[in-house]
Amino acid sequence: MRNVSLSNISRRFVKEDGTHMVALDDVSLEIDDAEFVCFLGPSGCGKTTLLRIISGLDQPDEGAVFLHNEKITGPGPKRGMVFQEYSLFPWKSVMENVIFGPLMSGMKKKDALKEAEIYLELVGLEQFKDSFPHELSGGMKQRVAIARALANEPEVLLMDEPFGALDAQTRNVLQGELLQIWEKKRITVLFVTHSVDEAVFLADRIVMMSSRPGKIKTIIDVNIPRPRGRTSLDVNVLRDEILQILSEDKEK
Ligand SMILES: Nc1ncnc2c1ncn2[C@@H]1O[C@H](COP(=O)(O)OP(=O)(O)OP(=O)(O)O)[C@@H](O)[C@H]1O
Ligand SMILES: [Mg+2]
Repeated sequence: MRNVSLSNISRRFVKEDGTHMVALDDVSLEIDDAEFVCFLGPSGCGKTTLLRIISGLDQPDEGAVFLHNEKITGPGPKRGMVFQEYSLFPWKSVMENVIFGPLMSGMKKKDALKEAEIYLELVGLEQFKDSFPHELSGGMKQRVAIARALANEPEVLLMDEPFGALDAQTRNVLQGELLQIWEKKRITVLFVTHSVDEAVFLADRIVMMSSRPGKIKTIIDVNIPRPRGRTSLDVNVLRDEILQILSEDKEK
């Protein structure tokens, strides 16, 4: 079943000098329920803009986004977002961060706390529920951000370079954990990354974008069974293919 449908999305911004720049030009894409899609492309090709539009934080100038045939007109709990920069409330404890969304959408505190326990356990942080963000490592903060997004029970998880600021080892661990959560919850994940390795490890499909104007250049099906090795032959062949496509962009 089609979950997210991007229909001819264009987004322009007015620059300081008054001229327009086209951040996204006629982007269309159909995403299935429980699909894991990675967006890969050079800086400035419109990946964040696209996620913001899908989340409802920004509006396209042309086109529309549909979630199960319902047009998205603003933010909603069905779409959870995890950003690159740790976006936790620094003055709230881990638990208070996680229950914030459910409380805002009217859940009773007792129920929200019970739910939050489950999500904190899922990301392995049940011991840290009373800690504050400054007491956590970068990887732990991102785990809290994931638990917080999941606590709203989203149908779609939007992740904008969520592991970009982490060291390589922590990043690998979190990729594995995210796949486990995804397999358990069967939610749709739209994941922006600059890393070819990350995209090949995670995605069902990789949407490769090009810039000026931001467009979908090509879509790659990753037909490699999971669990995927990071250096297996089929993984390396695909990485080479993608790096080749990326280098074509640079040569232009
Ligand atoms: N609010 C805004 N006002 C003006 N220009 C913007 C705005 N938001 C984005 N842009 C421009 O739109 C283009 C796409 O930006 P976007 O942040 O979506 O790129 P990106 O692919 O996420 O890049 P990166 O990989 O560096 O995060 C850029 O040229 C950017 O300068
Ligand atoms: Mg971005």
